[in-house]
Amino acid sequence: MKKVTAIYPGSFDPPTNGHLDLISRGSKIFDELIVAILRNPEKGPLFSLSERRLMLEEMTEGFKNVQVDTFDGLTVDYAAKVNASAVLRGIRAISDYEYELQMALMNRKLRPDLETVFMMPAEQYSYLSSRLVRELAQLNGSIEGLVPAMVEQRLKEKLDPAIKFQHAREPRSRKRG
Ligand code: PNS
Repeated sequence: MKKVTAIYPGSFDPPTNGHLDLISRGSKIFDELIVAILRNPEKGPLFSLSERRLMLEEMTEGFKNVQVDTFDGLTVDYAAKVNASAVLRGIRAISDYEYELQMALMNRKLRPDLETVFMMPAEQYSYLSSRLVRELAQLNGSIEGLVPAMVEQRLKEKLDPAIKFQHAREPRSRKRG
């Protein structure tokens, strides 16, 4: 039987538990799932491409059929390059629908044999977005439960580099404990 590869494109700045929920669902229905991070310097991302890649690699290491990659240019071209026949996207609320429909139909016009598959994340993530996570973190709001603990730590370090500096200076025994 033909193996179905899907890509899950996005900015992932930063990756959230909503993304992880969708990756988990996608990994169950596709033979292979490639989480594809768009290189989007014009958006002025908080995390560099390699930082986002490292976080996603760590988050997905338990999924045997999930890989993480980065891409430039059109999603349809990247999909063709990796022989993907589907694009996975999450729909949280009706407000997502218009933008997602527009994108899916434009992608279909560009490459008619590439299917977009929409999945819904778990209800508790239906209001969650990377933009809100960034905003909460910048304004000292709690982001517990919205992102993996490792992403929460990276956000803290990114927004207050003194924390990273402090960690680096701590003696080994204290760091482990
Ligand atoms: O996480 P995001 O920012 O909602 O992801 C948007 C993304 C990366 C899927 C979209 O911007 C995209 O596909 N960009 C690549 C350029 C492209 O193909 N544009 C035409 C889309 S119709």
